Amino acid sequence: MAIGSPFKADILKGKVALITGGGSGIGLEISTQFGKHGAAVAIMGRRRQVLDAAVAALRQEGIRAIGLEGDVRKREDAARVLEATIKHFGRLDILVNGAAGNFLASPEDLSPNGFRTVIDIDSVGTYTMCYEALKYLKKGEPGKGPSTGGLILNISATLHYTAAWYQIHVSAAKAAVDSITRSLALEWGTDYDIRVNGIAPGPIEGTPGMRKLAPEEMKSAHYDRPLYRFGEKWDIAMAALYLASDAGKYVNGTTMVVDGGLWLSHPRHISKEEVKELSRQVEKKSRTSDVHQPSSKL
Ligand code: COA
Repeated sequence: MAIGSPFKADILKGKVALITGGGSGIGLEISTQFGKHGAAVAIMGRRRQVLDAAVAALRQEGIRAIGLEGDVRKREDAARVLEATIKHFGRLDILVNGAAGNFLASPEDLSPNGFRTVIDIDSVGTYTMCYEALKYLKKGEPGKGPSTGGLILNISATLHYTAAWYQIHVSAAKAAVDSITRSLALEWGTDYDIRVNGIAPGPIEGTPGMRKLAPEEMKSAHYDRPLYRFGEKWDIAMAALYLASDAGKYVNGTTMVVDGGLWLSHPRHISKEEVKELSRQVEKKSRTSDVHQPSSKL
């Protein structure tokens, strides 16, 4: 159960954020928390009904919000949604690239078009939104301080740090997203004072992603992993708030992992008790055998 926000309610006061994939899941929670902390939010998604429901929920919280229909795969949609955001709110300070596509498939069952579809949404879509948003985000004069330009936040994953079963397409797509984050942080950070960061969430309960990747029917396969517990959408939104606020003014080019340490985990191959019992014996044995080792003739 998420607790209240530890941040002051005005940390994003006066800011305008556009959140792709903002109609549901992590994107909607980021929109909500940005709004509760003073920002006006435009949310972008493909489905009108989802957007309408999300905007109604946001406005219920007293948040200034609009829903804009569009597909990040289409450059003309990206440009139109950005223009509409500016027309409505007069400015853009934060772009969150949360739109993503996912499904489980082994490589032998994933056509090149299936692979390309996810790359198109996650990687090319992220780049397209950044590309079209640049003219609105580059406000300040270069070198005039860290908060003169806007912020880009790319939602990524940890799948590609190692390898993930049945997600070759998403792993490749998110690796590209992380690379885009670093490259833009370097180039646009230097030239326009725009900070570009990412968040790599672990498994977050109650999201469309988890319903696709860990549906009820497949649950047993997941629960034998150490550290495997769900995070909350709130956890990701708090990380986003930190990065979007002045508290994160010196953070650029990083992708913050918010997964409770899950990506580091792998099964324990020997118990703590066994280690305690055997470790010194093994040490002792190896020292003794070192003493009696005939010296090398080499
Ligand atoms: N297994 C294998 N291949 C699949 C698949 C699955 N479960 N689902 C889709 N594909 C393939 C299709 O067969 C097609 O390839 P083909 O033309 O060679 O047959 C390709 O992917 C595109 O599918 P299509 O249904 O036309 O794409 P779409 O643009 O309508 O939808 C998806 C895109 C597939 C990514 C869809 O899941 C989506 O819209 N996702 C957005 C929401 C989401 O995933 N949220 C979770 C975020 S973590």
